[in-house]
Amino acid sequence: MTRVRVEGLAAGYGGAPVLRDVAFELRGGDRVGLLGPNGGGKTTLFRVLLGELRPLAGTVEAPGRIGVVPQTERSRLDFPVSALDVALMGAVSRLPWWRRPGRAERGAAREALTAVGLAAEADATFGDLSGGQRQRVLVARALVQDASVVLLDEPFTGMDAASAERLEALLRRLAAEGRALLIATHDVDQARGWDRVLCVNGRQVAFGPPGDVLTREVLQATYGGAIVEIPGGGAVLPAHHHHDHAAG
Ligand SMILES: Nc1ncnc2c1ncn2[C@@H]1O[C@H](COP(=O)(O)OP(=O)(O)O)[C@@H](O)[C@H]1O
Ligand SMILES: [Mg+2]
Repeated sequence: MTRVRVEGLAAGYGGAPVLRDVAFELRGGDRVGLLGPNGGGKTTLFRVLLGELRPLAGTVEAPGRIGVVPQTERSRLDFPVSALDVALMGAVSRLPWWRRPGRAERGAAREALTAVGLAAEADATFGDLSGGQRQRVLVARALVQDASVVLLDEPFTGMDAASAERLEALLRRLAAEGRALLIATHDVDQARGWDRVLCVNGRQVAFGPPGDVLTREVLQATYGGAIVEIPGGGAVLPAHHHHDHAAG
């Protein structure tokens, strides 16, 4: 089932478009990797899909609810909100304006935290959680929102291997439940394990199954000169591809 359909999309911030020629669809059950260099237009695409940015051209059809796990901003972590509060925010947009979240919503938020493996952290301060735990709280928020499409903006960046594995397993489960996931990542190898990849570099370079799309030519067009060859393997990866092993 197609959950998002984009055709002929261009987007920008007043000047020339920073992203052009975008056409793809997200189907329920699919994990789609969004690849592109820094400044390539990944976050801009998310903002268009979320309705924060109006397309300069083209159409976006997305009838269902869209949840987002934004690029982590440490500056926003000072608020003394609990993990449960953050998950609960997913309910607020669904309530009429005069209603505050009540017992049903709190129950849904706890259930979502349990689903992402964080039942015990419900009352912990969001900002005190590890990066990996915060990402999972934000996934819980999308679950409370009952999002049929979840956008994740570089959720694996700065995550240790154990946290990355937990998040991978969670994303696999969300897709198996029929949600469509669009996941910005710098990890080409990771995207090879998903259902589709969308490569952008100021414009759409390619969209399709990883086996068809992730050719040397496409990676070159996506990352420009910033790719390195893996000796003997024939694989090419973006030069800034790395896992930093900060606390996750
Ligand atoms: N608020 C903004 N105003 C003007 N230009 C922006 C703004 N946000 C991003 N850009 C520009 O749009 C281009 C794409 O940025 P972005 O979508 O953030 O890329 P990515 O997420 O792939 O790193 C970049 O050239 C960036 O400088
Ligand atoms: Mg970005």
